[in-house]
Amino acid sequence: MKKPAPSFESNDLREFGEVLRGRRTINLFLQTPVPEKLIRDAIEVATWAPNHHVTEPWAFYVLGKQTKTICLDLIRDIVTAKKDAQAADFKAKSWSEKPGWLVVSCRRSKEPTLQQEDLAACSAAVQNLMLYLWKAGVGSKWTTGDITRDSRFLDIVGIDADHELVVGLICYGYPKVTPDQVRKPATDVLTELP
Ligand SMILES: Cc1cc2nc3c(=O)[nH]c(=O)nc-3n(C[C@H](O)[C@H](O)[C@H](O)COP(=O)(O)O)c2cc1C
Repeated sequence: MKKPAPSFESNDLREFGEVLRGRRTINLFLQTPVPEKLIRDAIEVATWAPNHHVTEPWAFYVLGKQTKTICLDLIRDIVTAKKDAQAADFKAKSWSEKPGWLVVSCRRSKEPTLQQEDLAACSAAVQNLMLYLWKAGVGSKWTTGDITRDSRFLDIVGIDADHELVVGLICYGYPKVTPDQVRKPATDVLTELP
């Protein structure tokens, strides 16, 4: 006798889907501190992402208060050079209100397929991390803005540009505002072949 397949209409699975669907990119955060242990746990969970050849290409950098202050000055410099001092103050203030900052990097590879696969694995790791935090009530925002490509930022964080590339700067904290989002229905993006 064949064993019946497990039900896919359970409350557990529906709730899991709600976590995946409900996670939003958060821009505005409460200033309530996020427990350090939760971040360490989220990083550990992140490393269970699928990863071809199990190369474990990721590295995680949690930025403390002192490093964030140095980064805020850099953000001010970058935006001043690109726009003006007023825009720089606005940007720096907005970033100063993001409680947690975490940088994720990926090992560089000279082999294009490996590089692509490693980057894909790092993206999956970031998503693991963000979903784990979301389930714990912590919102996050994955950014790849100008600062993440600035060599001064890499120096501040201690990233060796010859051997690592930045996957993202992830800011996190308890959400103040959770925005709405829309997606196309799955039928719009699905092709079923015979
Ligand atoms: C690789 C990557 C880079 C991103 N970079 C930025 C960014 O630089 N600035 C930003 O505001 N959002 C950034 N986002 C977040 C997206 O804007 C966000 O995921 C999108 O608006 C959908 O919203 P949701 O995450 O709430 O579904 C990035 C997302 C990814 C996956």
